[in-house]
Amino acid sequence: MHAVSTCDPENMQAVMAGKDWGVGFRLDGMGELLGRGIITTDGEEWFRARKMLRPGFNRNNVDDFAHLDNVIQGLLRKIPGDGETVDMGPLFYDTFLDTSLKFILGIDARDQNDGRPVSTETFNQLWLDGLVGMGLRLLLGSMRFLAPKAHYAKACATVHSFVDFAIDKAEERLLANAVGKTKSAADILLSQTSDRKYAQAQLLQGILGNQDTTSVLCSNVVQLLAEHPEIWARLRKEVKESDRELLTYDGLRENRLIQNILLESLRLRPVFPVVARRALRPTVLPTGGGPNGDQPLPVPAGTTGMVNFYSLNLDTAVFGADARSFNPDRWLNVKPSGKEFMPFGTGPRSCLGKDKALAEAGYLLVRLVERFERVEGRSGKGAGWRPEVRISMKNKAGYKVAFWRAEEA
Ligand code: HEM
Repeated sequence: MHAVSTCDPENMQAVMAGKDWGVGFRLDGMGELLGRGIITTDGEEWFRARKMLRPGFNRNNVDDFAHLDNVIQGLLRKIPGDGETVDMGPLFYDTFLDTSLKFILGIDARDQNDGRPVSTETFNQLWLDGLVGMGLRLLLGSMRFLAPKAHYAKACATVHSFVDFAIDKAEERLLANAVGKTKSAADILLSQTSDRKYAQAQLLQGILGNQDTTSVLCSNVVQLLAEHPEIWARLRKEVKESDRELLTYDGLRENRLIQNILLESLRLRPVFPVVARRALRPTVLPTGGGPNGDQPLPVPAGTTGMVNFYSLNLDTAVFGADARSFNPDRWLNVKPSGKEFMPFGTGPRSCLGKDKALAEAGYLLVRLVERFERVEGRSGKGAGWRPEVRISMKNKAGYKVAFWRAEEA
């Protein structure tokens, strides 16, 4: 099988946004856990799923931060404020798993007495085990029959039963006319279909999209700021002195420093460094062919196209000579085109959760700078950034930092 790896903006755009490329191949490795849904299908089937899920991501459904704030207050209580080392990776992971259960399934992670088939903790563990099994199958490709089966099958069955329980609850809410203003993806789907298997697949894929994305962004942001105390101090000053309400959807979006910190983190540490597509038919990439690599490149059907955001984001011609350094202020001067910077993908399949992720990461960041005077990196010498790619890219060295609580907090 052929494969093309590219960090050329034109080629990346063609692979990510072009009709000749698809993701249906993911079904082989992901199907048992996640079924046929928005992330594993192409064409009409994908289009229908995206259209059905879309209303959940509209602004009026992602601008209520009440549940997030509640979860963040719990998180803040767990962070030592006296300089003791803490690994923020697992804490952020739990935070966004909690909000994911609410946003996607409509379930409160802490409300354990509602008849759910297993506890939230068991669900979390088996979901993780399921992802490990799924990752192994993706890695093994056509040899995936070699992967151990028994525990994976158990993990898939339990995760499915948990989602089915959420579907029961959403059906009950719909029947009782008790769906709230902010709707979960379960509420939104069940109001459009009675096909439970179909809804189950979309919800599982919604959890996948939601999980390990905003949490990884927040982990990277805190670690980068721990290495740049002057920016933490600046943001703290700005938050304290802000004469407008920051903790609203618009307040967060319009704050340049917050947005620039998030963009700069996504640039240097993209949550998804590489994304793959497969050519659905013979096609042509804009460049990379001919003796000098500057001609169009014909590509046979079945070719894997790997687009590399990690390299794209380090282009000195676009981001400046210091492209490898963390400098949120660069965004005051650079204006990359949609092809030159696309941390949320591009084209019809771009990320549905982009606005939600940026709003929630910004919200969490404000809460952290309000509470903590300063933060310091604790990964140890030489262990600063050791990228490891599973589904998303994380720091293998962990996200160890130390916080000092502000006197007034
Ligand atoms: C920092 C956070 C996030 C980043 C960097 C990110 C990035 C991406 C990227 C690059 C894609 C395109 C993948 C591809 O083309 O194969 C994508 C798709 C998607 N994302 Fe996100 N994402 C984030 C957060 C979220 C959140 C919070 C949700 C849900 C609540 C979400 C839901 C989705 C969905 C459903 C898709 C599939 C869209 C489709 O195929 O039509 N994402 N995301």
